[in-house]
Order: sequence, then structure tokens, then C-alpha cells
Amino acid sequence: MTYQGLIQRYRQYLDLPAHTQTVSLLEGNTPLIPMPRLSRDFDCELFIKYEGLNPTGSFKDRGMTAAISEAVGRGAKTVICASTGNTAASAAAYAARAGLRSIVLIPEGKVAVGKLAGAIAYGAEVIQIQGSFDDALTLVVEITQKTPIALVNSINPYRIEGQKTSSFEICDVLGSSPDWLCLPVGNAGNITSYWAGFKQYNKGLPQVLGVQAEGAAPLVLGHPVDKPETIATAIRIGKPARGEQALDAAQESNGKIIAVSDAQILDAQHILASEGVWVEPASAAGLAGLIAETSQGTLDAKGKRIVVVCTGHGMKDPSIITESFKAPEVIPANYQALIDLVGN
Ligand code: F0G
Repeated sequence: MTYQGLIQRYRQYLDLPAHTQTVSLLEGNTPLIPMPRLSRDFDCELFIKYEGLNPTGSFKDRGMTAAISEAVGRGAKTVICASTGNTAASAAAYAARAGLRSIVLIPEGKVAVGKLAGAIAYGAEVIQIQGSFDDALTLVVEITQKTPIALVNSINPYRIEGQKTSSFEICDVLGSSPDWLCLPVGNAGNITSYWAGFKQYNKGLPQVLGVQAEGAAPLVLGHPVDKPETIATAIRIGKPARGEQALDAAQESNGKIIAVSDAQILDAQHILASEGVWVEPASAAGLAGLIAETSQGTLDAKGKRIVVVCTGHGMKDPSIITESFKAPEVIPANYQALIDLVGN
């Protein structure tokens, strides 16, 4: 049978209520891409789980198919979320698919253009908050407690159910869990989901390396960050809703949560692109963390099977690239000018 989306594929493993009515854009089933050069550099077997290839360009579609399917089944008419951008685009797309109204709250001026464009294109009502993602989340929690509007942030348990499926896919492709799983951590729904997924699937457990940005690293500092700041706007979060679960995943797996600088994130983004995988900055944090740990000698990658999760596509945040690089050369439209420039 042709692929019909992740609820269809993994229904028996997902704790979704009977009233669930599947709303799918054929999310999931993303490639696990071998990275020969990085593997050689680390003397390991390294794969990228390329979540940027989901329908709206990020891993959020896994949780959103589940959350929207449940919300539709119970008769919700409107959904809402706070977002640094990707959740907003995903919620908007799945709500559009289901014929629901969607409202998204985003931090003013801090959402990458590809994400904002997505949310608008899919028809969301986009509201900018004079505050951070954390302030927006507080507001959407309050409104969903006082009205019938459905919350589709990862506080919603069905988001976690959907996002577990990435662990299942990795085990299905590799035959077992990898030795290490490296991924960015923002609101901490994804790390929580992966860990729950591996535990449930019984194909072994990875050690988990969760990576925050230095300016938004509450789980490393041990306290909330009032004014989180990083160029990786997707993970610009100071008070992760599932922070405790993220710390548990790191501890239970004998892994860790660390912070990397914006420069290390941009470096990792560049390294990935130079092996053919362009991801948005936050998505490169997992690799940045792996590089930092191996070069310090605090993680031994040698001979290991390592999966680095790249959570969102590079096209989500094109201005990070266009603003920091030299504009392309302009030449007259003739052959001589071309050959003078490129040589042979
Ligand atoms: N990577 C990307 C590209 C993201 O968009 C996010 C979160 C994360 C990593 C972190 O995942 O929150 O589950 O720990 N983005 C959310 C959003 C907050 O609103 O799109 P997390």
C-alpha cells in the first residue's frame, strides 16, 4: 500500500483516543541520510534524520497530525498555539486541511521569514506578542483554559504521541536504536517524544545529547532565562514547558544537555550544507553539540552509530544566509566576462 501518513503507519503504538479522525499531509517517513564525510571525521557512522522534509518543512508536522486529528474528532472549531515559527506554520497547515480556524501567537520580530510566510499562506490569524515565546505560551494556555479553543502546543499530549514516530522510523531503518541521538532543545517537546518513542519501541536505547543555544539555555543553567537570545530563533526559549522531562531523558539515557554558542551553531549549519544538507540554524545545534563534545573529549564517537536530528529546512530562515554572505558577482551578459571570471 502507498504511504498514508504516520498515524496510519504507527497507529498501534500511538495513544490516541477513539474519537480521533485522521488529518494527514503524509508527514513523516523522512530520510535517514548517511553522511560519509562527517562519519570519516568522527570515525563513526553518522546519519542525519532530515526532518526538514516534512510537508511544512519541520518535525512539527508529526505532532500536528496527531493533535489536529484529535481536536477535529472531538469537535473543536478553532486551534491556537504559541510559536517561534515552525509550530505556527504546521498548525496553520493542518488546521487548513481540516477546515478549522487557526490562531498563532509569535514573538514580535523574532520569527524567520519562511515560517511567517507559511503561517500566512495556510491562512492562520497571526498575532505578534510584545514579549517572548514564553509569554505567548502563557497567554495561549490561559485562553484555552477559559474557552473551547484547542491548544496545539507540545503541552498537548497528542503532539508527543505523533512525534514519537521519528524514533520508530530510525529503529526501523537501522534495525535498532543508534548509540547516540543528538538534537536541539527548545520547549523540550521533541526530546521528550524521542525518548518516549525509543523506550516504547524496544529496539534498544540511545544516549541522548540535547543541545540548547548559550543565550537560551535554562536547562544547562538550572533556572529560567528571562530574556532568551540566539540567532537560532526556533529555540529562543527561556522556560521550556517540558524541561523536567528533557532532564529526565538526558539522565536516564546516560546522556546530557549542553549549550553551544551561536558561532558554533552557524559553523555546524555550514558543515551540514557543505555535505548537501541545508538546515535552519536551530536544526544545526545537534551537530554543533556533537562537535563540541567530541573535540573536548567528553563524548567518544569512535565506532558508534550516531543520529543527528535536523529539525527544520534551511529555507525556513533564508536571511541568515543572504545577510551574512557576500552578494553574488554581477557581470555583463557575455561569454568573455564569464570566462574571465570563472577561468577554466
Ligand atoms: N528545532 C526547530 C527547527 C524548532 O522549530 C524547534 C521548536 C526546536 C528545534 C525545538 O523543539 O521545542 O520540542 O524542544 N520550535 C517551536 C516552535 C518552539 O514554536 O516552532 P522543542
